[in-house]
Amino acid sequence: MQDIGNLAEALAEARQVKRTPFAWKHLGRDKTIILVFFNSSLRTRLSSQKAALNLGMNPIVLNVNGDSWKLETELGVIMDGDKSEHLREAIPVIGSYCDIIGVRSFAKFEDRDAEYAETIINQFIEYSGRPVISLESATVHPCQAFADLITIDEYKTKARPKVVLTWAPHPRALPQAVPNSFAEWMNAADVDFVIACPPGYELAPQFAGNAMVEHDQMKAFEGADFIYAKNWSSYSEYGKILSTDMSWTVGARQMAVTDNAFFMHCLPVRRNMIVTDEVIDSPRSIVIPEAANRVVSAQVVMKRMLESM
Ligand code: CP
Repeated sequence: MQDIGNLAEALAEARQVKRTPFAWKHLGRDKTIILVFFNSSLRTRLSSQKAALNLGMNPIVLNVNGDSWKLETELGVIMDGDKSEHLREAIPVIGSYCDIIGVRSFAKFEDRDAEYAETIINQFIEYSGRPVISLESATVHPCQAFADLITIDEYKTKARPKVVLTWAPHPRALPQAVPNSFAEWMNAADVDFVIACPPGYELAPQFAGNAMVEHDQMKAFEGADFIYAKNWSSYSEYGKILSTDMSWTVGARQMAVTDNAFFMHCLPVRRNMIVTDEVIDSPRSIVIPEAANRVVSAQVVMKRMLESM
């Protein structure tokens, strides 16, 4: 978020990119972007490639766990296991084949300190010699949060809307990257921001900032203009599932106390766990335009990188 700078200027640039997506095609001529995925993706993979193509770049996708050697990420280990290559060699090699690198590497819930120190993406920054875009790292998903902000800016009908990030149940432990970034960006945006979650699901202080935290979901939803649902695992009891309370599934009951709020989710979403069919299929659900804006957010970031080369 710090890299994007002034949010009003970034939003103005996003509107311009959305109006004329091919106006900067000359910037990416003879430039290559390599998108490295340690984890699965639909939206990030496709929207990043589309953004690169709109800018005239050649995108190459590397699926680390499918197409390449398995990569060792820890320094100082004896590599006698199933990993054939170390990041220390792989990163500068990848850097030598491209002009920009994108990296997706999720938290594994093995070591909170190492994951919150972002040891994987920071190795790409240190050893690649190239500008690096986060395609979701252990603790943040900035291109998603930027797309979320663009979407809120497009749909808001009040100068300062009320935005609620709500925890919702999920059968597997999920990282905190999406809610961390959403909180970070909403705290900096011109919105009234509330985080609703069961006790024990408070986000790391550096991301929660001064947001109001409400453990009563119905109270949090009162008068809201945007509901952003997401599951995340506990930060304090790192990576643990502390609740599977299905009363937190976002349904018509909760949406009824909002100010006819729009429903948002980064996707992929588990229907009737996170949100009921009724809410996600309603006219107030904007999950598809939100996903479409992933091209715009990625393109603004790549455009700025190309302009600074
Ligand atoms: N929202 C998001 O990042 O989707 P993918 O995991 O499909 O890329």
